[in-house]
Amino acid sequence: MTIILGIESSCDETAAALVTGDRRILSHKLAGQEAAHRPFGGVVPEIAARAHVEALEPLVAAALDEAGLSLADIDAVAATAGPGLIGGVMVGLVTAKALAMAADKPLVAVNHLEGHALSPRLADPDLQFPYLLLLVSGGHCQLLLVEGVGRYRRFATTIDDAAGEAFDKTAKLLGLGFPGGPAVERAAASGDPRAVPLPRPLVGSAEPHFSFAGLKSAVLRARDAGTHAEEDIAASFQQAVVDCLVDRTRRAIARAPDATALVVAGGVAANRAIREALQTLATANGLPFSAPPLWLCTDNAAMIAWAGAERFAMGLTDPLDIAARPRWPL
Ligand code: KG4
Ligand code: ZN
Repeated sequence: MTIILGIESSCDETAAALVTGDRRILSHKLAGQEAAHRPFGGVVPEIAARAHVEALEPLVAAALDEAGLSLADIDAVAATAGPGLIGGVMVGLVTAKALAMAADKPLVAVNHLEGHALSPRLADPDLQFPYLLLLVSGGHCQLLLVEGVGRYRRFATTIDDAAGEAFDKTAKLLGLGFPGGPAVERAAASGDPRAVPLPRPLVGSAEPHFSFAGLKSAVLRARDAGTHAEEDIAASFQQAVVDCLVDRTRRAIARAPDATALVVAGGVAANRAIREALQTLATANGLPFSAPPLWLCTDNAAMIAWAGAERFAMGLTDPLDIAARPRWPL
């Protein structure tokens, strides 16, 4: 069976994993950088790139070690080649190229978004193409029909902020710390989602696009009013995001009669309120619902290895001079 080494370094997680073509995760290693970025309240690209340089080689060694394998045993090296913070992407891609060259193995350059988009298939062997995917991360918020590997039909995107960005900015406004998404979810757990009236941007509009900038401004006003408890603002914000995601996804379901399932992926898919609301929406529309386990939603290398495995199975490998790309739409 094919064995793929995957490498991820596009944001603030350094990760290496070994995954087989029949969905076995032989090992996955991850080094977060939260502590290094926390004083700045967000990811600092230069700090991230340096941290990837330090962390990556030992992680690859640890991933191979845990699986009891050497480079000679693998079939290909897959790495995120974009989109992302270019310094970090270059660290991962150059490392993958060096390993591929040294071991005389093919390289698979993976689009990070394709990693998220195909990750549900690593966790769920029953998930077939085409499926409707809500891809919600720190940098992206899109509705896509995933028709096959490398075949994506985009229905909608955000006209301003991504959903994860909205969580991160809200966390910052409320002083909840970094990273923002999990902090807002924790605070929201003890708040009242109906306490603070907040807008639902674009809800009801014909095109299934997203907008979160106005919501962030409303959170700022609610905070400055000084009359609401922090956890009530967090809960009301989270509910507003849930309502936006559900309304927009409902719109897209109507446009995707061929979809065999509703799927959510990306870091924001780790949010339990969002998962539950989408599960309910899928059931109401007679669609199976699929979401990867929480650890596979946020950035990791197993999803990159899996996307690499899917591409490798189709004969899609890349030359060693392929460039890292800061922007790379699916
Ligand atoms: O996919 P990801 O790990 O990195 C990108 O490719 O962007 O997504 C990170 C985003 C961050 O904005 C983070 O705040 C958000 O996902 N996130 C969450 C949760 N966990 C991570 N948002 C809401 N609730 C969560 N539990
Ligand atoms: Zn990501």
